[in-house]
Amino acid sequence: MSHHSWDPERYLTYADERGRPFLDLVARIDATDPQRVVDLGCGPGNLTAILANRWPDADVEGLDSSAEMIEKANAQQVPGIRFEVADLRSWQPMHQVDVLVSNATLQWVPGHLDLLSSLVTRVAPGGWFAFQVPGNFAEPSHVLLHELAADRRFSPHVAGVARPAAHDPQVYLDALLELGCRVDVWETTYLHLLHGDDPVFTWISGTGARPTLQALPDELRDEFVAEYKQLLRDAYVAGPHGTVLPFRRVFAVAQVPA
Ligand SMILES: C[S@@+](CC[C@H](N)C(=O)[O-])C[C@H]1O[C@@H](n2cnc3c(N)ncnc32)[C@H](O)[C@@H]1O
Repeated sequence: MSHHSWDPERYLTYADERGRPFLDLVARIDATDPQRVVDLGCGPGNLTAILANRWPDADVEGLDSSAEMIEKANAQQVPGIRFEVADLRSWQPMHQVDVLVSNATLQWVPGHLDLLSSLVTRVAPGGWFAFQVPGNFAEPSHVLLHELAADRRFSPHVAGVARPAAHDPQVYLDALLELGCRVDVWETTYLHLLHGDDPVFTWISGTGARPTLQALPDELRDEFVAEYKQLLRDAYVAGPHGTVLPFRRVFAVAQVPA
């Protein structure tokens, strides 16, 4: 898979909308006095701060494989949180953690379902493992991206780029129950009301479309972007109050057996 980088500023354009599922996720974690809290794939760290606010006595750590994201997170200087570059696939904490959160990250890790068992072993008995992944890969925003990228003008350049993917809620429910956890799984479709020109492009170019856009040579990228924007405008027609982006998300909160 080709390497791509993150642009924290672009990602934060819709910080409020992107933050909502995080709040809904952590609201279902019933930990009262955790000592160790980890945010895996913390991104720019703005949401990790919510964990530190919720559990002010906890040792909170944010980990992410992107140096750009960790640099941004560290620049915020949130007291009580350590941010470090780490890949969740090889992450080995010194001590088991009491709360492990991973928001909008596991979809970037191919085969992440097979990782759930090892992630659960990183959680202390009675502790919590909570994650959220998008469930919108069949939506026009993604389908149009992949159809356009398959065009022979672009396809030689984008073969092998990272393509986020996730499972339906039942798959996570079954996997976590199989691991002996007490499990709460659900899905929510948010209707994000976006404003400005090409807001769906702005949204997806900060995340799902970024690897494709980065893989294209400069001389082809403008052509791709112009066509993709038009396709998105046709698929998500701007109304008098803005452009509606339906966004389905899948949530799982598991309590590890005591
Ligand atoms: C969509 S962002 C989510 C950031 C943050 N959790 C949030 O909800 O705003 C996905 C993050 O996952 C990180 N990521 C992807 N693969 C990873 C891996 N294998 N290990 C750690 N972080 C990873 C990316 O660097 C990126 O910051």
